[in-house]
Amino acid sequence: MRLSDKFALILAAIVAAAVVASSAVFLNIEYSLLSRAEIRSREAMIESASGIIRESRLAKDPLILVDFLRLLGREHSEIGRCRIWMNGRWRNVQGVGTNLKREDAVVLEISSTGAPGATRDSLEAQIWLSQAAIETRMASARKALLKKMETVCVVLILLGLIISLPLGRGLSRRVKIIESAVARIGEGDAKAKIPNLGQDEIGRLSKNINAMAERLSEIDRLKKEFVASVTHELRSPLSAIESYINRMLAGQTLAEEDRQGLSRVLNNVNRLNHFVSNLLQMAKIERGKLDFIPKNVPLAPLIEDSALFFAPLAQKAGIRLDCKIERSIGEIRIDPDLISHVLANLISNALKFTRAGGSIVVCLEKRGQWAECSVQDTGIGLAEKDAKRIFAPFERIRNPLKATGVGLGLAISKSIIDMHRGEIGVASVLNQGSRFYFRLPMGK
Ligand SMILES: Nc1ncnc2c1ncn2[C@@H]1O[C@H](COP(=O)(O)OP(=O)(O)OP(=O)(O)O)[C@@H](O)[C@H]1O
Ligand SMILES: [Mg+2]
Repeated sequence: MRLSDKFALILAAIVAAAVVASSAVFLNIEYSLLSRAEIRSREAMIESASGIIRESRLAKDPLILVDFLRLLGREHSEIGRCRIWMNGRWRNVQGVGTNLKREDAVVLEISSTGAPGATRDSLEAQIWLSQAAIETRMASARKALLKKMETVCVVLILLGLIISLPLGRGLSRRVKIIESAVARIGEGDAKAKIPNLGQDEIGRLSKNINAMAERLSEIDRLKKEFVASVTHELRSPLSAIESYINRMLAGQTLAEEDRQGLSRVLNNVNRLNHFVSNLLQMAKIERGKLDFIPKNVPLAPLIEDSALFFAPLAQKAGIRLDCKIERSIGEIRIDPDLISHVLANLISNALKFTRAGGSIVVCLEKRGQWAECSVQDTGIGLAEKDAKRIFAPFERIRNPLKATGVGLGLAISKSIIDMHRGEIGVASVLNQGSRFYFRLPMGK
């Protein structure tokens, strides 16, 4: 789930929780107001009825009270019975209802003083309120309130959702900027910088990442310079050792045992030389210092010559090497030394990873606007996941042939083909063989 969606969800959940909590508090207050209103309406009833009792007593006319209670009974549906105390006994007020039982009623005692439970005098009244009617009325009032609150809640939550979506995006915007800059820094883009994102934690984080990126590119620069100077310094003594051993081996005076020992030393010196030149070349590429001198060159003979150079090696390894060259491919603008270097890398790999008895075909053909050169072998092949990695520096796959190497040949080749705005790739099947290819644009 994206960060912006997570933010939006959290915001929406907070809004929903806040709406539900405040609605619960509001409902609580409203419910207690309802109960208070009920008590106040009873008090008002008692007050007005006791006023009427006083009036009736003054006028010596109980009918005033009877009429009032009748009217009250009509106006208030919860009044189930009204009685007046007259001449020493209780009489029901006609027209108000008489069915209500005492145990189902809340009885309001009304005397001339208005105080409940006052001493019974000559004219008093009782108003019986039906408990069931009061409860029904309260319940329906609560229900109506709840319904209103529900509608308000739904509207507020929907509003919260609608607002939280853009808000969530806004919050994650700066994180996205940092994410893409960090990805670029991870890919080695030394110029990747995060713009000023404010003074808060995210702003400070971006400044720290910028400082870290600067430090990393400084370390990278120092590393490249170090590798370049060390490998450069190693080349001259290695060449001197190599030529000295070659001279000694060419002489006739050596005993067989010494000759064998020196040959082994020479093999190791050659490996070291290969390692150092690869490192030096990679260092040059990384620092943008590799000589790239493009010129118009006929591609077919260049590919053929480079391939034929490996014929003796292939023969020695018991591997068949064939060429299929489309000669109609004319001149093409390339750096011939670098392109032969790429082909040499591919063929030497094919020789390294193919068993005796296998075969290698070097092919040059036209493919639309591209001139495509490929090296197909019947060697150990590669698993799909490994084929994706091998163009990165120092990536090597464990192989059953125990072939040695540094893991730089393909990385160098890729850089060279990139310089030519071409493409390089591989199609391979494990244990069946590989087809490495590079394509060069044929236009000017
Ligand atoms: N033709 C091939 N068949 C099978 N695997 C190959 C083939 N070519 C390359 N690979 C795999 O790709 C890896 C990287 O190749 P790369 O040429 O970059 O390095 P290397 O040959 O091991 O060393 P270097 O070329 O620097 O001496 C190899 O180690 C090998 O695992
Ligand atoms: Mg190689």
